[in-house]
Amino acid sequence: MQPLRIAVAGLGTVGSGVVRLLHEQADILAARAGRPLQVVAVGARNRRKQRKIPLGRARWEGEVLDLATASDVDVVVEVIGGSEGAASELVHAAIAAGKHVVTANKALLAHQGADLARRAERAGVALAFEAAVAGGIPVLKALREGLAGNRFSRVYGILNGTCNYILSEMRATGRGFDEVLAEAQAHGYAEADPSFDIDGIDAAHKLAILAGVAFNCAVNFKAVHVEGIRHVSAADITFANELGFRIKLLALASVGANGLEQRVHPCLVPIDTPIAHVDGVFNAVVSEGDFVGRNVFEGRGAGAGPTASAVVADLVDIAAGRRAWAFGVPARDLARLPAAPMRDHVGRCYIRLQVKDRPGVIADLTAILRDEKISIESMLQHGRAVGDEGVPVVLVSHEAREAAMSRALSRIGRLRAVIEPPRMIRIESL
Ligand SMILES: NC(=O)c1ccc[n+]([C@@H]2O[C@H](COP(=O)([O-])OP(=O)(O)OC[C@H]3O[C@@H](n4cnc5c(N)ncnc54)[C@H](OP(=O)(O)O)[C@@H]3O)[C@@H](O)[C@H]2O)c1
Repeated sequence: MQPLRIAVAGLGTVGSGVVRLLHEQADILAARAGRPLQVVAVGARNRRKQRKIPLGRARWEGEVLDLATASDVDVVVEVIGGSEGAASELVHAAIAAGKHVVTANKALLAHQGADLARRAERAGVALAFEAAVAGGIPVLKALREGLAGNRFSRVYGILNGTCNYILSEMRATGRGFDEVLAEAQAHGYAEADPSFDIDGIDAAHKLAILAGVAFNCAVNFKAVHVEGIRHVSAADITFANELGFRIKLLALASVGANGLEQRVHPCLVPIDTPIAHVDGVFNAVVSEGDFVGRNVFEGRGAGAGPTASAVVADLVDIAAGRRAWAFGVPARDLARLPAAPMRDHVGRCYIRLQVKDRPGVIADLTAILRDEKISIESMLQHGRAVGDEGVPVVLVSHEAREAAMSRALSRIGRLRAVIEPPRMIRIESL
Protein backbone atom coordinates (compact mmCIF):
# COMPACT_ATOMS: atom_id res chain seq x y z
CA MET A 1 0.00 0.00 0.00
CA GLN A 2 1.16 3.55 -0.70
CA PRO A 3 1.98 5.42 2.51
CA LEU A 4 0.08 8.59 3.40
CA ARG A 5 2.73 11.27 2.89
CA ILE A 6 2.59 13.90 5.59
CA ALA A 7 4.15 17.34 5.92
CA VAL A 8 4.25 18.86 9.40
CA ALA A 9 4.35 22.67 9.49
CA GLY A 10 5.29 23.86 12.97
CA LEU A 11 7.50 21.85 15.32
CA GLY A 12 6.60 23.38 18.66
CA THR A 13 4.63 21.64 21.42
CA VAL A 14 2.05 20.09 19.10
CA GLY A 15 4.18 19.54 15.99
CA SER A 16 6.90 17.77 17.97
CA GLY A 17 4.25 15.66 19.69
CA VAL A 18 2.77 14.65 16.32
CA VAL A 19 6.17 13.63 14.91
CA ARG A 20 6.94 11.62 18.03
CA LEU A 21 3.56 9.87 18.10
CA LEU A 22 3.75 8.98 14.40
CA HIS A 23 7.19 7.50 15.01
CA GLU A 24 6.48 5.60 18.23
CA GLN A 25 3.08 4.21 17.19
CA ALA A 26 3.95 3.59 13.52
CA ASP A 27 2.95 -0.07 13.64
CA ILE A 28 -0.52 0.28 15.15
CA LEU A 29 -1.22 3.35 13.02
CA ALA A 30 -0.35 1.46 9.83
CA ALA A 31 -2.53 -1.44 10.95
CA ARG A 32 -5.48 0.83 11.73
CA ALA A 33 -5.14 2.99 8.65
CA GLY A 34 -4.45 0.07 6.31
CA ARG A 35 -1.25 1.76 5.16
CA PRO A 36 1.79 3.47 6.69
CA LEU A 37 1.71 7.10 7.81
CA GLN A 38 5.00 8.68 6.83
CA VAL A 39 6.37 12.14 7.62
CA VAL A 40 8.09 13.22 4.41
CA ALA A 41 8.74 16.89 5.19
CA VAL A 42 8.74 19.35 8.07
CA GLY A 43 9.14 23.07 8.49
CA ALA A 44 9.23 25.70 11.21
CA ARG A 45 10.80 29.11 11.72
CA ASN A 46 14.24 28.27 12.99
CA ARG A 47 16.10 25.33 11.49
CA ARG A 48 18.91 25.48 14.06
CA LYS A 49 16.67 24.99 17.09
CA GLN A 50 17.45 21.77 19.01
CA ARG A 51 14.23 19.74 18.90
CA LYS A 52 15.17 16.17 19.86
CA ILE A 53 12.45 14.59 17.75
CA PRO A 54 12.73 11.50 15.52
CA LEU A 55 12.63 13.12 12.09
CA GLY A 56 14.07 10.11 10.25
CA ARG A 57 14.46 10.88 6.57
CA ALA A 58 11.96 13.74 6.54
CA ARG A 59 13.36 16.72 4.70
CA TRP A 60 13.42 20.24 6.10
CA GLU A 61 11.48 22.73 3.97
CA GLY A 62 13.05 26.18 4.35
CA GLU A 63 9.84 27.97 3.33
CA VAL A 64 6.79 26.37 5.00
CA LEU A 65 4.48 27.68 2.29
CA ASP A 66 6.26 25.39 -0.17
CA LEU A 67 4.88 22.39 1.74
CA ALA A 68 1.48 23.29 0.28
CA THR A 69 2.59 22.62 -3.26
CA ALA A 70 5.25 19.93 -2.76
CA SER A 71 4.57 17.03 -5.12
CA ASP A 72 5.54 14.40 -2.55
CA VAL A 73 2.98 15.56 0.06
CA ASP A 74 -0.62 14.27 0.42
CA VAL A 75 -1.58 16.04 3.64
CA VAL A 76 -0.37 19.17 5.39
CA VAL A 77 -0.51 19.28 9.19
CA GLU A 78 -0.69 22.95 10.18
CA VAL A 79 0.44 23.41 13.79
CA ILE A 80 1.93 26.89 13.58
CA GLY A 81 -1.00 28.77 15.09
CA GLY A 82 -2.64 32.17 14.67
CA SER A 83 -5.68 33.27 12.72
CA GLU A 84 -3.63 35.16 10.14
CA GLY A 85 -0.18 35.10 8.59
CA ALA A 86 1.81 31.95 7.88
CA ALA A 87 -0.78 29.48 9.18
CA SER A 88 -3.66 30.96 7.23
CA GLU A 89 -1.63 31.30 4.03
CA LEU A 90 -0.43 27.73 4.30
CA VAL A 91 -3.90 26.26 4.83
CA HIS A 92 -5.39 28.22 1.92
CA ALA A 93 -2.49 27.27 -0.35
CA ALA A 94 -2.62 23.60 0.63
CA ILE A 95 -6.35 23.34 -0.08
CA ALA A 96 -5.93 25.18 -3.38
CA ALA A 97 -3.18 22.73 -4.32
CA GLY A 98 -5.43 19.75 -3.57
CA LYS A 99 -3.80 18.66 -0.32
CA HIS A 100 -5.72 17.43 2.70
CA VAL A 101 -5.32 19.66 5.76
CA VAL A 102 -5.22 18.71 9.43
CA THR A 103 -4.93 21.57 11.88
CA ALA A 104 -5.09 22.25 15.62
CA ASN A 105 -5.60 25.95 15.00
CA LYS A 106 -8.77 27.08 16.78
CA ALA A 107 -8.15 30.76 16.12
CA LEU A 108 -8.02 30.15 12.37
CA LEU A 109 -11.16 28.00 12.34
CA ALA A 110 -13.08 30.37 14.59
CA HIS A 111 -12.50 33.15 12.09
CA GLN A 112 -12.59 31.23 8.80
CA GLY A 113 -14.21 27.86 9.57
CA ALA A 114 -17.14 27.95 7.14
CA ASP A 115 -15.08 29.46 4.32
CA LEU A 116 -12.31 26.89 4.69
CA ALA A 117 -14.83 24.04 4.81
CA ARG A 118 -16.38 25.31 1.57
CA ARG A 119 -12.99 25.61 -0.12
CA ALA A 120 -11.91 22.14 1.02
CA GLU A 121 -15.11 20.57 -0.30
CA ARG A 122 -14.73 22.28 -3.65
CA ALA A 123 -11.16 21.06 -3.88
CA GLY A 124 -12.22 17.55 -2.84
CA VAL A 125 -9.89 17.42 0.16
CA ALA A 126 -10.36 16.84 3.88
CA LEU A 127 -10.29 19.67 6.41
CA ALA A 128 -9.90 18.04 9.82
CA PHE A 129 -9.47 19.81 13.16
CA GLU A 130 -10.26 17.46 16.04
CA ALA A 131 -7.32 18.89 18.03
CA ALA A 132 -8.72 22.42 17.87
CA VAL A 133 -11.41 21.77 20.50
CA ALA A 134 -10.71 20.17 23.88
CA GLY A 135 -7.31 18.75 22.83
CA GLY A 136 -7.26 15.03 23.39
CA ILE A 137 -11.02 14.59 23.84
CA PRO A 138 -12.46 13.36 20.51
CA VAL A 139 -15.60 15.41 20.99
CA LEU A 140 -16.02 16.74 17.45
CA LYS A 141 -15.99 13.23 16.03
CA ALA A 142 -18.37 12.08 18.75
CA LEU A 143 -20.89 14.85 18.04
CA ARG A 144 -20.59 14.71 14.27
CA GLU A 145 -20.46 10.95 13.80
CA GLY A 146 -21.17 8.93 16.94
CA LEU A 147 -24.15 11.12 17.81
CA ALA A 148 -25.28 11.88 14.24
CA GLY A 149 -28.76 10.60 15.06
CA ASN A 150 -29.47 13.42 17.48
CA ARG A 151 -30.56 17.02 17.48
CA PHE A 152 -28.69 18.86 20.21
CA SER A 153 -30.45 21.30 22.50
CA ARG A 154 -27.25 22.41 24.16
CA VAL A 155 -23.51 21.76 24.30
CA TYR A 156 -21.31 23.21 26.99
CA GLY A 157 -18.06 22.60 28.70
CA ILE A 158 -14.83 23.59 30.30
CA LEU A 159 -12.68 24.38 27.29
CA ASN A 160 -9.73 26.21 28.78
CA GLY A 161 -7.38 24.30 31.05
CA THR A 162 -5.51 27.39 32.23
CA CYS A 163 -8.66 28.98 33.65
CA ASN A 164 -9.81 25.72 35.15
CA TYR A 165 -6.43 25.26 36.81
CA ILE A 166 -6.51 28.78 38.25
CA LEU A 167 -10.06 28.44 39.58
CA SER A 168 -9.33 24.99 41.03
CA GLU A 169 -6.19 26.26 42.77
CA MET A 170 -8.02 29.29 44.15
CA ARG A 171 -10.61 26.98 45.67
CA ALA A 172 -8.08 24.48 47.00
CA THR A 173 -5.78 27.06 48.58
CA GLY A 174 -8.04 30.04 49.32
CA ARG A 175 -5.60 32.32 47.47
CA GLY A 176 -6.48 35.22 45.21
CA PHE A 177 -6.49 35.33 41.41
CA ASP A 178 -3.24 37.29 40.89
CA GLU A 179 -1.19 35.06 43.15
CA VAL A 180 -2.45 31.84 41.54
CA LEU A 181 -1.97 33.24 38.02
CA ALA A 182 1.66 34.13 38.81
CA GLU A 183 2.26 30.61 40.09
CA ALA A 184 0.58 29.08 37.02
CA GLN A 185 2.91 31.12 34.82
CA ALA A 186 5.93 29.94 36.81
CA HIS A 187 4.84 26.30 36.29
CA GLY A 188 4.17 26.78 32.57
CA TYR A 189 0.38 26.28 32.91
CA ALA A 190 -0.23 29.86 31.79
CA GLU A 191 1.41 31.88 29.04
CA ALA A 192 3.58 34.91 29.80
CA ASP A 193 0.78 36.90 28.15
CA PRO A 194 -2.20 35.03 29.59
CA SER A 195 -4.96 37.28 28.24
CA PHE A 196 -6.12 34.92 25.48
CA ASP A 197 -6.82 32.29 28.10
CA ILE A 198 -8.01 34.23 31.14
CA ASP A 199 -10.13 36.71 29.20
CA GLY A 200 -12.06 33.83 27.63
CA ILE A 201 -10.97 34.30 23.99
CA ASP A 202 -9.44 30.84 23.63
CA ALA A 203 -12.58 29.19 25.04
CA ALA A 204 -14.72 31.36 22.74
CA HIS A 205 -12.75 30.19 19.68
CA LYS A 206 -13.37 26.58 20.66
CA LEU A 207 -17.02 27.18 21.48
CA ALA A 208 -17.69 28.74 18.07
CA ILE A 209 -16.23 25.63 16.39
CA LEU A 210 -18.06 23.25 18.73
CA ALA A 211 -21.36 25.03 18.05
CA GLY A 212 -20.70 24.83 14.31
CA VAL A 213 -20.35 21.04 14.54
CA ALA A 214 -23.21 20.49 17.00
CA PHE A 215 -25.73 22.71 15.24
CA ASN A 216 -24.42 22.34 11.65
CA CYS A 217 -24.12 26.11 11.36
CA ALA A 218 -21.56 28.54 9.99
CA VAL A 219 -18.99 29.33 12.69
CA ASN A 220 -19.82 32.74 14.13
CA PHE A 221 -17.10 33.72 16.57
CA LYS A 222 -18.08 37.40 16.62
CA ALA A 223 -21.45 36.48 18.11
CA VAL A 224 -19.95 34.80 21.20
CA HIS A 225 -20.53 36.74 24.43
CA VAL A 226 -17.16 36.58 26.22
CA GLU A 227 -16.15 37.33 29.80
CA GLY A 228 -13.02 36.03 31.49
CA ILE A 229 -12.13 35.15 35.07
CA ARG A 230 -10.11 38.20 36.19
CA HIS A 231 -12.94 39.41 38.44
CA VAL A 232 -13.52 36.14 40.25
CA SER A 233 -12.26 36.62 43.80
CA ALA A 234 -11.36 34.28 46.63
CA ALA A 235 -14.48 35.60 48.41
CA ASP A 236 -16.69 34.54 45.47
CA ILE A 237 -15.26 31.04 45.60
CA THR A 238 -15.89 30.79 49.36
CA PHE A 239 -19.46 32.08 49.08
CA ALA A 240 -20.18 29.82 46.11
CA ASN A 241 -19.00 26.86 48.13
CA GLU A 242 -21.25 27.82 51.02
CA LEU A 243 -24.22 28.06 48.64
CA GLY A 244 -23.51 24.61 47.16
CA PHE A 245 -21.73 25.63 43.96
CA ARG A 246 -18.34 25.58 42.26
CA ILE A 247 -17.16 28.42 39.99
CA LYS A 248 -16.12 27.34 36.49
CA LEU A 249 -15.40 29.18 33.28
CA LEU A 250 -18.03 27.57 31.06
CA ALA A 251 -18.54 27.83 27.32
CA LEU A 252 -22.17 27.23 26.41
CA ALA A 253 -24.08 27.08 23.13
CA SER A 254 -27.79 26.46 22.68
CA VAL A 255 -30.44 27.05 20.07
CA GLY A 256 -33.75 28.59 21.08
CA ALA A 257 -36.53 30.73 19.70
CA ASN A 258 -34.16 33.74 19.54
CA GLY A 259 -31.48 31.91 17.58
CA LEU A 260 -28.06 30.60 18.58
CA GLU A 261 -26.85 31.67 22.01
CA GLN A 262 -23.08 31.34 22.52
CA ARG A 263 -21.51 32.54 25.73
CA VAL A 264 -18.28 32.14 27.67
CA HIS A 265 -18.20 33.43 31.23
CA PRO A 266 -17.64 32.32 34.82
CA CYS A 267 -20.58 30.33 36.16
CA LEU A 268 -21.76 28.93 39.44
CA VAL A 269 -22.45 25.26 38.79
CA PRO A 270 -24.20 22.99 41.30
CA ILE A 271 -21.74 20.89 43.26
CA ASP A 272 -23.61 17.66 42.42
CA THR A 273 -23.07 17.96 38.64
CA PRO A 274 -20.23 16.09 36.89
CA ILE A 275 -18.72 19.29 35.52
CA ALA A 276 -18.28 20.74 39.00
CA HIS A 277 -15.68 18.04 39.67
CA VAL A 278 -13.57 18.56 36.57
CA ASP A 279 -10.51 20.16 38.15
CA GLY A 280 -7.03 21.32 37.26
CA VAL A 281 -6.00 21.46 33.61
CA PHE A 282 -8.72 19.02 32.54
CA ASN A 283 -11.41 19.87 30.00
CA ALA A 284 -14.93 18.50 29.74
CA VAL A 285 -17.74 18.75 27.23
CA VAL A 286 -21.37 17.89 27.87
CA SER A 287 -23.84 17.39 25.03
CA GLU A 288 -27.59 17.05 25.32
CA GLY A 289 -29.12 15.12 22.42
CA ASP A 290 -32.81 14.38 21.94
CA PHE A 291 -32.50 10.60 21.53
CA VAL A 292 -29.33 9.87 23.49
CA GLY A 293 -29.74 12.30 26.39
CA ARG A 294 -26.72 13.68 28.14
CA ASN A 295 -23.15 12.63 27.34
CA VAL A 296 -20.16 13.81 29.35
CA PHE A 297 -16.66 13.76 27.81
CA GLU A 298 -13.67 14.50 29.99
CA GLY A 299 -9.93 14.49 29.40
CA ARG A 300 -6.81 16.48 28.80
CA GLY A 301 -7.46 19.55 26.70
CA ALA A 302 -3.90 20.52 25.85
CA GLY A 303 -0.28 19.43 25.88
CA ALA A 304 1.88 17.59 23.36
CA GLY A 305 0.51 14.07 23.89
CA PRO A 306 -3.26 14.72 24.00
CA THR A 307 -3.18 17.21 21.12
CA ALA A 308 -1.01 14.92 18.98
CA SER A 309 -3.44 12.09 19.73
CA ALA A 310 -6.25 14.14 18.14
CA VAL A 311 -4.17 15.26 15.15
CA VAL A 312 -3.08 11.70 14.42
CA ALA A 313 -6.65 10.37 14.67
CA ASP A 314 -7.54 12.76 11.85
CA LEU A 315 -4.56 11.49 9.85
CA VAL A 316 -5.68 7.88 10.31
CA ASP A 317 -9.14 8.78 8.99
CA ILE A 318 -7.60 10.40 5.92
CA ALA A 319 -5.25 7.48 5.33
CA ALA A 320 -8.14 5.01 5.61
CA GLY A 321 -10.28 7.07 3.24
CA ARG A 322 -12.90 7.98 5.86
CA ARG A 323 -14.33 11.43 5.27
CA ALA A 324 -16.92 13.41 7.21
CA TRP A 325 -18.29 16.88 6.43
CA ALA A 326 -16.15 19.25 8.49
CA PHE A 327 -19.17 20.72 10.30
CA GLY A 328 -21.44 17.70 9.96
CA VAL A 329 -23.23 18.70 6.73
CA PRO A 330 -22.05 19.90 3.31
CA ALA A 331 -20.66 23.43 3.63
CA ARG A 332 -23.34 24.86 1.32
CA ASP A 333 -26.01 23.62 3.75
CA LEU A 334 -24.51 25.19 6.88
CA ALA A 335 -27.23 27.18 8.66
CA ARG A 336 -26.72 30.90 9.16
CA LEU A 337 -28.37 31.09 12.56
CA PRO A 338 -29.28 34.49 14.02
CA ALA A 339 -27.36 35.34 17.18
CA ALA A 340 -29.58 35.36 20.26
CA PRO A 341 -28.95 38.69 22.02
CA MET A 342 -27.41 38.37 25.45
CA ARG A 343 -29.83 40.94 26.87
CA ASP A 344 -32.62 38.38 26.38
CA HIS A 345 -30.80 35.64 28.25
CA VAL A 346 -32.76 34.48 31.29
CA GLY A 347 -31.09 32.91 34.29
CA ARG A 348 -30.37 33.00 37.98
CA CYS A 349 -27.54 35.16 39.31
CA TYR A 350 -25.18 35.40 42.23
CA ILE A 351 -24.52 39.03 43.20
CA ARG A 352 -21.80 40.08 45.64
CA LEU A 353 -21.83 43.58 47.06
CA GLN A 354 -19.54 45.34 49.47
CA VAL A 355 -21.81 47.63 51.50
CA LYS A 356 -21.57 49.98 54.43
CA ASP A 357 -23.19 48.40 57.44
CA ARG A 358 -26.04 50.88 57.91
CA PRO A 359 -29.77 50.58 58.54
CA GLY A 360 -31.82 50.73 55.35
CA VAL A 361 -29.15 49.45 52.94
CA ILE A 362 -30.86 46.15 52.30
CA ALA A 363 -34.20 47.94 51.82
CA ASP A 364 -32.59 50.16 49.13
CA LEU A 365 -31.16 47.14 47.33
CA THR A 366 -34.36 45.19 47.38
CA ALA A 367 -36.36 48.20 46.17
CA ILE A 368 -34.17 48.43 43.05
CA LEU A 369 -34.51 44.72 42.41
CA ARG A 370 -38.28 44.95 42.92
CA ASP A 371 -38.45 47.79 40.34
CA GLU A 372 -36.80 45.48 37.82
CA LYS A 373 -39.08 42.58 38.86
CA ILE A 374 -36.13 40.54 40.10
CA SER A 375 -36.91 38.38 43.09
CA ILE A 376 -34.37 37.15 45.58
CA GLU A 377 -34.03 33.50 46.47
CA SER A 378 -31.51 33.86 49.29
CA MET A 379 -29.11 36.28 50.95
CA LEU A 380 -25.89 35.82 52.90
CA GLN A 381 -24.14 38.26 55.16
CA HIS A 382 -21.40 37.40 57.61
CA GLY A 383 -20.11 39.58 60.41
CA ARG A 384 -20.29 43.30 60.86
CA ALA A 385 -18.19 46.04 59.34
CA VAL A 386 -15.47 47.73 61.31
CA GLY A 387 -15.42 51.45 60.50
CA ASP A 388 -16.09 52.25 56.83
CA GLU A 389 -14.64 49.16 55.18
CA GLY A 390 -18.03 47.55 54.56
CA VAL A 391 -19.29 44.00 54.67
CA PRO A 392 -19.90 41.59 51.82
CA VAL A 393 -23.53 40.82 51.09
CA VAL A 394 -24.39 38.04 48.69
CA LEU A 395 -27.75 37.78 46.96
CA VAL A 396 -28.99 34.88 44.86
CA SER A 397 -31.71 35.84 42.42
CA HIS A 398 -34.49 33.80 40.88
CA GLU A 399 -34.58 33.74 37.09
CA ALA A 400 -34.24 37.21 35.65
CA ARG A 401 -33.70 38.72 32.22
CA GLU A 402 -30.14 39.86 31.60
CA ALA A 403 -31.23 43.35 30.55
CA ALA A 404 -33.16 43.85 33.80
CA MET A 405 -30.26 42.52 35.84
CA SER A 406 -27.73 44.89 34.26
CA ARG A 407 -30.04 47.88 34.81
CA ALA A 408 -30.48 46.87 38.45
CA LEU A 409 -26.73 46.37 39.00
CA SER A 410 -25.92 49.71 37.49
CA ARG A 411 -28.40 51.44 39.85
CA ILE A 412 -27.16 49.43 42.83
CA GLY A 413 -23.58 50.40 42.00
CA ARG A 414 -24.56 54.07 42.30
CA LEU A 415 -25.97 53.70 45.86
CA ARG A 416 -23.78 55.58 48.33
CA ALA A 417 -23.70 52.64 50.71
CA VAL A 418 -22.30 50.34 48.01
CA ILE A 419 -18.55 50.85 48.11
CA GLU A 420 -17.31 48.56 45.30
CA PRO A 421 -18.74 47.76 41.87
CA PRO A 422 -21.28 44.91 42.25
CA ARG A 423 -19.98 41.53 41.08
CA MET A 424 -22.42 39.29 39.27
CA ILE A 425 -21.80 35.67 38.31
CA ARG A 426 -24.48 33.71 36.43
CA ILE A 427 -25.79 30.49 37.91
CA GLU A 428 -26.27 27.66 35.42
CA SER A 429 -28.90 24.97 35.72
CA LEU A 430 -27.11 21.92 34.36
N1 LIG B 1 -0.06 23.59 22.88
C1 LIG B 1 -1.21 22.97 23.03
O1 LIG B 1 -1.40 22.25 24.00
C2 LIG B 1 -2.29 23.11 21.99
C3 LIG B 1 -3.52 22.41 22.17
C4 LIG B 1 -4.49 22.50 21.20
C5 LIG B 1 -4.27 23.26 20.08
N2 LIG B 1 -3.10 23.94 19.94
C6 LIG B 1 -2.90 24.74 18.73
O2 LIG B 1 -1.84 24.16 17.97
C7 LIG B 1 -1.13 25.17 17.29
C8 LIG B 1 0.34 25.09 17.66
O3 LIG B 1 0.49 25.30 19.04
P1 LIG B 1 1.87 25.01 19.81
O4 LIG B 1 1.56 25.09 21.25
O5 LIG B 1 2.51 23.79 19.27
O6 LIG B 1 2.71 26.30 19.39
P2 LIG B 1 4.29 26.56 19.58
O7 LIG B 1 4.86 25.61 20.58
O8 LIG B 1 4.46 27.99 19.76
O9 LIG B 1 4.89 26.13 18.15
C9 LIG B 1 4.66 26.88 16.99
C10 LIG B 1 5.55 26.33 15.88
O10 LIG B 1 5.27 27.06 14.70
C11 LIG B 1 6.50 27.56 14.15
N3 LIG B 1 6.24 28.84 13.53
C12 LIG B 1 5.79 29.98 14.09
N4 LIG B 1 5.68 30.96 13.18
C13 LIG B 1 6.08 30.42 12.01
C14 LIG B 1 6.20 30.93 10.69
N5 LIG B 1 5.90 32.19 10.39
N6 LIG B 1 6.66 30.08 9.73
C15 LIG B 1 6.97 28.83 10.02
N7 LIG B 1 6.87 28.29 11.25
C16 LIG B 1 6.43 29.08 12.22
C17 LIG B 1 7.46 27.68 15.30
O11 LIG B 1 8.78 27.59 14.79
P3 LIG B 1 10.10 27.58 15.73
O12 LIG B 1 10.00 26.33 16.56
O13 LIG B 1 11.22 27.51 14.77
O14 LIG B 1 10.04 28.82 16.55
C18 LIG B 1 7.06 26.48 16.17
O15 LIG B 1 7.74 25.32 15.76
C19 LIG B 1 -1.81 26.49 17.64
O16 LIG B 1 -2.79 26.77 16.68
C20 LIG B 1 -2.48 26.17 18.96
O17 LIG B 1 -3.61 26.97 19.23
C21 LIG B 1 -2.11 23.87 20.87
